[in-house]
Amino acid sequence: MDAKFLKFFILISSIFFSSFAFTPQDNYLINCGSSTSTVVVDKRDFLGDSSNNASDYLSKGKSISLANPNPVSVSSVLYTTARLFTSASSYTFKIKNTGTHLVRLHFSPFVSNNYDLKNGDFTVMANGFSILSRFVANFTVVKEFFMMVEKVELEIMFTPSSDSNFAYVNAIEVFSVPQDFFVDAGGVALISPDGIQEFRQNISTLILETVHRINVGGSKLTPFNDSLWRTWIPDEDFLVLKSAAKVARTFDPPNYQPGGATRENAPDNVYMTAQQMNVANGSLNFLFNITWDFPVSREGDDTMHFVRLHFCDIVSVALNTLYFNIYINGIIAYKDVDLSALAFHELASPYYIDFVVKNTKDSGFERISIGPSDLSNTLRKNAILNGVEIMKVLDSVPLKRRPKKNSVWILVGSVLCGFFALSLAILTSLAILKCCKRKSKPKTKRPDSGGWTFLRVYGSSSRDTGSDGNALASPGPYGYYDLKIPFTDIKLATKDFDKNLIVGSGGFGMVYKGVLKDNILVAVKRGMPGSRQGLPEFHTEITVLSKIRHHHLVSLVGYCEEQSEMILVYEYMEKGTLRNHLYGSDLPPLSWNQRLEICIGAARGLHYLHTGSAQGIIHRDIKSTNILLDETYVAKVADFGLSKSGPCLNETHVSTGVKGSFGYLDPEYYRRQQLTDKSDVYSFGVVLFEVLCARPAIDPLLTRDQVNLAEWAMEWQKKGMIEQIVDPQLVGSIKPNSLKKFGETAEKCLADYGVDRPTMGDVLWNLEHAYQLQTNERPRERDDTGAPGVVTGVNLSRIGVDSVEGISDISTSRVFSQLITNEGR
Ligand SMILES: *[C@@H]1O[C@H](CO)[C@@H](O)[C@H](O)[C@H]1NC(C)=O
Ligand SMILES: *[C@@H]1O[C@H](CO)[C@@H](O)[C@H](O)[C@H]1NC(C)=O
Ligand SMILES: *[C@@H]1O[C@H](CO)[C@@H](O)[C@H](O)[C@H]1NC(C)=O
Ligand SMILES: *[C@@H]1O[C@H](CO)[C@@H](O)[C@H](O)[C@H]1NC(C)=O
Ligand SMILES: *[C@@H]1O[C@H](CO)[C@@H](O)[C@H](O)[C@H]1NC(C)=O
Ligand SMILES: *[C@@H]1O[C@H](CO)[C@@H](O)[C@H](O)[C@H]1NC(C)=O
Repeated sequence: MDAKFLKFFILISSIFFSSFAFTPQDNYLINCGSSTSTVVVDKRDFLGDSSNNASDYLSKGKSISLANPNPVSVSSVLYTTARLFTSASSYTFKIKNTGTHLVRLHFSPFVSNNYDLKNGDFTVMANGFSILSRFVANFTVVKEFFMMVEKVELEIMFTPSSDSNFAYVNAIEVFSVPQDFFVDAGGVALISPDGIQEFRQNISTLILETVHRINVGGSKLTPFNDSLWRTWIPDEDFLVLKSAAKVARTFDPPNYQPGGATRENAPDNVYMTAQQMNVANGSLNFLFNITWDFPVSREGDDTMHFVRLHFCDIVSVALNTLYFNIYINGIIAYKDVDLSALAFHELASPYYIDFVVKNTKDSGFERISIGPSDLSNTLRKNAILNGVEIMKVLDSVPLKRRPKKNSVWILVGSVLCGFFALSLAILTSLAILKCCKRKSKPKTKRPDSGGWTFLRVYGSSSRDTGSDGNALASPGPYGYYDLKIPFTDIKLATKDFDKNLIVGSGGFGMVYKGVLKDNILVAVKRGMPGSRQGLPEFHTEITVLSKIRHHHLVSLVGYCEEQSEMILVYEYMEKGTLRNHLYGSDLPPLSWNQRLEICIGAARGLHYLHTGSAQGIIHRDIKSTNILLDETYVAKVADFGLSKSGPCLNETHVSTGVKGSFGYLDPEYYRRQQLTDKSDVYSFGVVLFEVLCARPAIDPLLTRDQVNLAEWAMEWQKKGMIEQIVDPQLVGSIKPNSLKKFGETAEKCLADYGVDRPTMGDVLWNLEHAYQLQTNERPRERDDTGAPGVVTGVNLSRIGVDSVEGISDISTSRVFSQLITNEGR
């Protein structure tokens, strides 16, 4: 679809949807103690519970109606009456739509009939769960709760304490919220003083009490302005340092995307304002956070809060320029937030991120900070926040059965929300992985064989091929003399980092095309100048790549670590990423033979990585953008070490890994946090289907069953109808046997359990077979799959990549530390 038309379509559909405000299926609005129905400011009609119509709801107990003797003083017409209970009494509401409901109780004390409502002291239960206990209100208080209602009715019971002998309420609202309001798929991060973990319960089962609802950077929003009739208040009073923040505002309505946040998550006005970093014009001082302290009750160590942060990038002029970090109570809760990627590659597209936060007894507030990420361009660092909701976790409803989703678009929405929830889960798992890997895992054959070892990455000196490879002395930057390139040469090669030479950008920084002195075409990857973030990954990449050379691995030409620069120089890959040749560009489609050759090449590179050194290296980030093509379409695997490993898997790694790999990630890897080379095999299987179907691993714009390529393709493959989803460009050109072999190979790669997946060697063999079935020929260069060589970087000519293949050096085997599986297979 043409982009302009798509925009137009989105505009039309947003107008279409905005004209249909949310209508809850269950919607009970009770004006307690009143005999008439009352229309309030937000135009809703509250039924008097003394009228015949509403008295049905009052199911048991003793109560009387009270009228405020001073009705002009109250803030809402609802507060001119109240119902007072002298014994345990309840309202019962019939529930048509089981699922999450919002319960809002209004208390506005007055004196009437010798009762001073300020003295009311009571407990409120909802379907047996205590939501208010020993509750007293000295002034008008509105209490709001979210809870799953699984039964056909909801009973709200008021029980006076023996001290006061009465309970009361002025108004009750009970209504259903959209099914995808809380999304369970995947998981949510649990932030506690000990760090970040996965929160193991489903959010939808929690009973939540609203504590704060903030329109950051904006004004107060009343129920009139909100489709769930909520009140949002400004954030200024919670800012720790007001001068750190500057209001950002737009007058354009938000660009809602399917799968992102909806108007029911927060109204337009929340997404149209934000606080951003207040950086003086021209100043480059970005070394600060914006911090808010939100008071919360101190009730022991186990108090938990659900925190939902709302975002909408209304500050950037272009995509992929805003990256920031979120801290909760001083703990990094989400690093390198990339709204462009999260919010479906659209600016001003609303999105929210959920957390569960466990408090310490003594803090008394929830501290939320946002600050710039090292990923962002130095000249444009920023951080934003549009809205905050903090809800106290009261209890959880044991689920009896799953509520039925009753319309397709809700399903799609929830699945897509689940998509980011799942990303969070992965992030969390990776964080857990970080914590766990220090401990030796039980039930492994060898003490250090949990998939990880803890040797420093910069192992043996690369200068001396023959010397003791086990030496762990860190060579520092001096260990790789021969690959060092002076900064001045790199400046020259890239015309002083000319913007016009930028060929890409990644988590690490910009990539420039350059020409070295000896006319060698290179790709220059430059870390953010001055930032030492990613230093371990930088060294890993140098260590790994300077010692491993293979025709199907992108080779390192050199590096520079001068003047606080971290620069890696690679051979230039003329044709760019495999993905670009599959979809999303104007490049001519690749033929089936070409695709097979590329897959075979990449499989060779990976096979070599897994088996080439004594212990093997796991790539961990196989995807179609990490398979590059040279001018003759020879495939080379790229980007190892940098975004994956290092002596300590720090958070940079975690979040970039998560972003980059979603849709390719081995389900077993995040289930069991055990990384094996079979995780690469899984990812490679996804790439195979990507090659066959010419579509992304995750495409949120497709219908639910198609969003995830691995699932969708597997369905067709299992039905034996894989030909139905082949890239239309290929239809008719693939021989059935070749397709069958290819489909089976991909299917095996995607087996749920690593043990059931083939090795890369098997995959390679099968792909070669598929090639033979297509062409009746053996594929090219079949001889380099046997005993691959590992060489040290020292004596390499900077271009003679192929010439050094096959030279073996066992001394490097210890160098790869974390990248290594100890099992050696
Ligand atoms: C009771 O319901 C009837 C119709 O269902 C409506 O006409 C009437 O106004 C209602 N009474 C009150 C007090 O809301
Ligand atoms: C309400 O007022 C009573 C007496 O004036 C006081 O003891 C109590 O702490 C107040 N409660 C709140 C919640 O302010
Ligand atoms: C959470 O919900 C999912 C469905 O969304 C369900 O499969 C899972 O069993 C639930 N987990 C718990 C702990 O209730
Ligand atoms: C919110 O609603 C009030 C009416 O209650 C209206 O006057 C005001 O303009 C609205 N504010 C915004 C920001 O839409
Ligand atoms: C900031 O500087 C830019 C260019 O230097 C200028 O165009 C802009 O008006 C300045 N903004 C403010 C608020 O001073
Ligand atoms: C932002 O806050 C976090 C958590 O308190 C802290 O670790 C980090 O150093 C702060 N960043 C800056 C730039 O002050």
